[in-house]
Amino acid sequence: MSSAIGVPLSRAEANAPAGSGRYYRRFGLLERVMHAVLMFTFIGCALSGLPLLYPDHAWAEALVRLFGGFRGAGLIHRICAAVMIVVFVGHVLRVLYRGLASDSILTILWGPDSMVPQGKDIADIYNHFKWFLGRGPRPQFDRYTYWEKFDYWAVFWGMFIIGGSGLMLWFPIFFSQFLPGWVLNITSLVHGEEALLAVGFIFTIHFFNGHLRPEKFPMDLVIFTGRVSEHELAEERPIERARLVREGRLTTLETTPPSAGSMTFGRIVGGTALTLGIVTILLIFYSLLR
Ligand code: HEM
Repeated sequence: MSSAIGVPLSRAEANAPAGSGRYYRRFGLLERVMHAVLMFTFIGCALSGLPLLYPDHAWAEALVRLFGGFRGAGLIHRICAAVMIVVFVGHVLRVLYRGLASDSILTILWGPDSMVPQGKDIADIYNHFKWFLGRGPRPQFDRYTYWEKFDYWAVFWGMFIIGGSGLMLWFPIFFSQFLPGWVLNITSLVHGEEALLAVGFIFTIHFFNGHLRPEKFPMDLVIFTGRVSEHELAEERPIERARLVREGRLTTLETTPPSAGSMTFGRIVGGTALTLGIVTILLIFYSLLR
């Protein structure tokens, strides 16, 4: 099924009741840009780093040649890594700033917009699995679901391990002033294994959540357009919606529907990332099985 502007709709959009044309802002421009930069720097690091793990495979050789040889691949890897670290540090500073600017810094930890897992998330996991088995109603979610928080923290802690070990690989002489040699020896092992874990997680679980779940297939565009439809908000995040209504904030978030251009842009960017991710996973499997 297509929208009035000819763009294919996800199932949640297609099931929206007739006449409910309202949209609400979910993500601001900065959040969307930061996510896009994270997406492409992660893919850049993966494509330029993985050939070092599988140097004896033809695909690795072809990829390295595409980057202009090992020097070129190393340069791309370091540029993507540096940008990724800047975005990550920027995100952490922004969260701290917003916490300090709000009435209580504890909102970072326990507020409804917090990414920190709460007791309700544990109950949601239990009830969601009951629902999967047809043994209870679907749990009602707030602004962030338990699996969105899981994805967030996977990237957050991954950044410390992959970024920390990556910086040690980048500046070994500097780090050898404080760290024993054996730490530097295992750094490349830690970096490579964590990279495999991160690639495996992002390109399967995270992509499944964003693209392949029946309600989202073929793609959830909210991270590109920043907008969520009335139907999606009411259906998927009823607790958030009720809170926004109660606080009189829902109307202030009302915005125009996503433009055809922004949806096409989202589909191209998301589709490119999805394709590169799936190809990468297939190449890793092929290399492991051969
Ligand atoms: C975020 C900061 C990161 C930094 C500072 C960093 C830095 C580095 C450096 C300096 C190397 C050695 C490359 C060479 O000698 O040319 C390397 C290797 C590698 N990187 Fe990263 N990297 C980062 C993120 C990532 C990410 C996100 C991935 C994958 C998703 C990744 C995957 C790899 C792999 C697979 C290797 C090869 C490891 C090995 O040879 O065992 N890196 N990285």
